[in-house]
Amino acid sequence: MNGMLNLSPSDYVQTPNSFAAKQASMSTALFEIIRSHIYTNSGIYFQDNKKYFLESRLQRRMNFLGIRTFEEYFDLLKFSPKGESEKKYFYEAITINETFFFRNQPQLDALASQILPEIIQAKNAAGKNKIRIWSAASSSGEEAYSIAMIFQDLIKPRNPNVELEVFGTDINSAVIETASNACYKDYSIRNTQPYYLKKYFKMNNGVYEVQPDIKKMASFKIMNLYDDAAIKSLFNFDVIFCANVLIYFDQASKTKVIANLYNALNKGGYLFIGYSETLHGISKAFKLVSYPNTVGYKKE
Ligand SMILES: C[S@@+](CC[C@H](N)C(=O)[O-])C[C@H]1O[C@@H](n2cnc3c(N)ncnc32)[C@H](O)[C@@H]1O
Repeated sequence: MNGMLNLSPSDYVQTPNSFAAKQASMSTALFEIIRSHIYTNSGIYFQDNKKYFLESRLQRRMNFLGIRTFEEYFDLLKFSPKGESEKKYFYEAITINETFFFRNQPQLDALASQILPEIIQAKNAAGKNKIRIWSAASSSGEEAYSIAMIFQDLIKPRNPNVELEVFGTDINSAVIETASNACYKDYSIRNTQPYYLKKYFKMNNGVYEVQPDIKKMASFKIMNLYDDAAIKSLFNFDVIFCANVLIYFDQASKTKVIANLYNALNKGGYLFIGYSETLHGISKAFKLVSYPNTVGYKKE
């Protein structure tokens, strides 16, 4: 791309650690190009009022690279041979990864008290014993491990032969690394009951490490929910959690992603989405099932 912003040398400040640019500004035209690039590749849609967010997140990355303009950065991402490796940092910069353990307790209660017993009964009848749960858009893994802890605490003692496999995926490679390491800070455990903290974490110097029995139930992989081919390679799930990510998509990307998740579910399986999210106008394929303070979507 052409059209550099022509900042003068005084627009840059030297810090002890880096050569940092003052906040550059992104033209409306470039914002539209970058948002369209993001949308086409990930389904994430940046509304007009998110321009500042995008600018400030990319600015941090540009400061790190010593790049002065958004045009130059987008050039690197899209056209340079380094673009492929930059993609990883680009998604790390633009995604919001807020999550914590036991974030949605009513969903976990419904899972433990009704959904898993129902699934186990069907598995028993079919002579099977493995439950597969997908935490799609898992961020740093707190949701996946919360599910594993609930299973270990409430389901396993009554069903010793049943095994759980939790699969976490996210587009952001940094959070997938954190998830695989399973070590967390105070912020992640702020909603965790002391009982679970004591039973399923090892605390060391302010770091909360998930116990090996729980850790081994979960595995994590970088995956873009908007990548049809990748998502179609995943199937045979009994429950899918796809929470607090649809809010970043527009109607068309929600529809596409939810259709793929529907296909990835076993018949009789369930989908959970976030508190503030709905499938209204997105999919009619599921049956809405109500539980105390939450709803689930069943594939019949
Ligand atoms: C707010 S977090 C939600 C984490 C967790 N599900 C929860 O509810 O606590 C949203 C996550 O969605 C991920 N994400 C956004 N777009 C994605 C995409 N196209 N494919 C996969 N993950 C995506 C982000 O990287 C981020 O980690």
